[in-house]
Amino acid sequence: MLKYGDKVILTDHKKNKHTVTLKEGGKFSTNYGYIEHDKIIEAGNGGIVLSSKNIKYTVLKPTYIDYVMHIKRNAQIIYPKDTAAMLMEGDVYPGLEILESGIGQGAFSIALLRALAGKGHLVSYEIREDFAEQSARFIKEFLGDVDNHTIRIGNIYEGFEGVYDRVFLDLPEPWHVLKYLKDGLRDGGIVVAYIPTVLQLKTFVDTLKELNYFADIESFELIKRPWKVDGLSVRPEMWIYNHSAFICRARKMQS
Ligand SMILES: C[S@@+](CC[C@H](N)C(=O)[O-])C[C@H]1O[C@@H](n2cnc3c(N)ncnc32)[C@H](O)[C@@H]1O
Repeated sequence: MLKYGDKVILTDHKKNKHTVTLKEGGKFSTNYGYIEHDKIIEAGNGGIVLSSKNIKYTVLKPTYIDYVMHIKRNAQIIYPKDTAAMLMEGDVYPGLEILESGIGQGAFSIALLRALAGKGHLVSYEIREDFAEQSARFIKEFLGDVDNHTIRIGNIYEGFEGVYDRVFLDLPEPWHVLKYLKDGLRDGGIVVAYIPTVLQLKTFVDTLKELNYFADIESFELIKRPWKVDGLSVRPEMWIYNHSAFICRARKMQS
């Protein structure tokens, strides 16, 4: 059942997607006419609604991917294909104590909080107060109130409070954090970093090795290759979003 306040994704025959927040008396206007919000509620999740110019729109509640990919962003987010891999490489499950930095838009925080499923705790370190505030709003809008998330304002390159099972880093210079993991990451714990460029990756891995208390170091990238499947035209899409970032994962050993 859809209700006022819900977000929906309306998709037209040309696959254009629009995010709409349903309001009493609201109207969604497009080049193909308008649609009253009450009609969208009547159609329901998974339904079809017609615009005033008789164009069909599918009505669907947004998934995580819809939500994080269709917002106006102020920070670069971790892309969903990489998010999925980072959750697996980090072996995230309910009950863990997790540290992440920085919070940026809060896209990765949402994925971590969903994987924790209300058990355990996520602490997000962020240097910019405006990002901390906007990400808190962004997370609340999707997940509602969560009581196992703390946002701390601070420069993580100067250290952090607490001891964690997992550490996720999406920062310009993530290697500055590694020395604090000697005491801040439990033995056997996992650090996963999201690293856009090759030189950053090299510095990160060199630092992991120099510190001598990390093992099982692995670096990789994931390329998603969309295919067009349309009648007899079955081939890779002509365009491809080629590079997002490298992912580096390591385990903390006793030291
Ligand atoms: C690329 S964004 C993170 C995006 C986030 N992972 C997401 O998926 O939405 C990087 C964030 O790190 C923050 N940051 C940069 N340097 C930092 C530092 N030294 N300590 C804490 N946060 C920092 C930036 O302000 C920015 O919000």
